[in-house]
Amino acid sequence: MKYFIAANWKLNKTIGETREFLRSFIPAVQNVTDVDIVVAPPFTSLSAAAEEIKDTNVQLSAQDLFWEEKGAYTGEISPLMLLDAGCKHVIIGHSERRQYFSEEDVIVNRKIKAAKKAGLGVIFCVGESLAEREAGKTFDVIKREVESGLAEVDSDNLVVAYEPIWAIGTGKTASNEQAQEVHAFIRKILGNLYGDKAQGIRILYGGSVTPDNVDGLMACKDVNGALVGGASLKPDSFAKIVSFNKEN
Ligand code: 13P
Repeated sequence: MKYFIAANWKLNKTIGETREFLRSFIPAVQNVTDVDIVVAPPFTSLSAAAEEIKDTNVQLSAQDLFWEEKGAYTGEISPLMLLDAGCKHVIIGHSERRQYFSEEDVIVNRKIKAAKKAGLGVIFCVGESLAEREAGKTFDVIKREVESGLAEVDSDNLVVAYEPIWAIGTGKTASNEQAQEVHAFIRKILGNLYGDKAQGIRILYGGSVTPDNVDGLMACKDVNGALVGGASLKPDSFAKIVSFNKEN
């Protein structure tokens, strides 16, 4: 299975900074052929990023969308607008959207359906909080999020990202064993939903991934890529992550 490594820039980078990053990053990864390389800038930088990545091995993702195609929804962005701006993928259900914008499972599901209907690839995020982990609820939370988010959704063009909330932006990475344990569990739930096709769904790990810990995480059986925040903001650091060592 081809690895999938995506940069989630969150609320970072102007149009100029986006162009500057890509002009340095693209040459650094041009020989990487065995990884789907994806960047997710803020909405305002998408068109500029689309120009910069044209005819390269870097793909474009948005960080969110709204489920309607058009209409009176002030401030929102539709799936068709993302396609028009050059996106191939969209991140949906990130814990920061769940936490700060009250996105519940039913909303996440609606967004996934709208994205897939438009032909966008979906990077669907799930993950437990520290309190949930400490209360022994990790598997319950993951099961609920995966099953609700993917209700009436097929497995085409679907990537799942496991992002333990306690590991996001904290410098506390899940250990390889913790990541593999939850990834295997997600694979099992996907198996219940999709049968054999679950083997072909890429499951990314996200949460304080850096050039120093990426090799070990990617060597885990059910870890098929990464969703990277902080360490994706510098071209050399993200290029190192994308060029991780596959010999482990
Ligand atoms: P960090 O890599 O900064 O921990 O962020 C992870 C993340 O939330 C990616 O979506």
